[in-house]
Amino acid sequence: PSGQRYEAETAPAQCQGTIDSNQAGYSGSGFCNGTAAAGAFAQFTVTSAAAGSATVGVRFANGATDGTRPANLIVNGSTVGTVSFESTGAWTTWSTKTVTIPLNGGSNTIRLDPTTAAGLPNVDYLDV
Ligand code: GCU
Repeated sequence: PSGQRYEAETAPAQCQGTIDSNQAGYSGSGFCNGTAAAGAFAQFTVTSAAAGSATVGVRFANGATDGTRPANLIVNGSTVGTVSFESTGAWTTWSTKTVTIPLNGGSNTIRLDPTTAAGLPNVDYLDV
């Protein structure tokens, strides 16, 4: 990451669910608690100075006892990979997953689109 943080609770980020603040350890004023459904996404709009490959950190917590919360990683409308959000052991235990993605110069959308009925883990921010 090159130093820009995008909070899940700050527009133009979108959260298909609720912005919650009941699990300690988050950054900013809350986090995205996505609806428990496939396709209930969290989306970020990020700016890149130049086109190219970027390393992005996704901060999340997964206290679910039923395992991972996988999601498609969709950049500017194209699926570029998947992210397997493993259990972090508790909803107050936050972890960062690092992914490498292609970005355009200028504005980009980065969507975490869950593929199972459990939906996303709680998502705190993206570091780009
Ligand atoms: C619990 C927890 C939430 C979490 C949810 C989930 O309800 O308190 O913060 O989002 O589980 O399963 O996603």
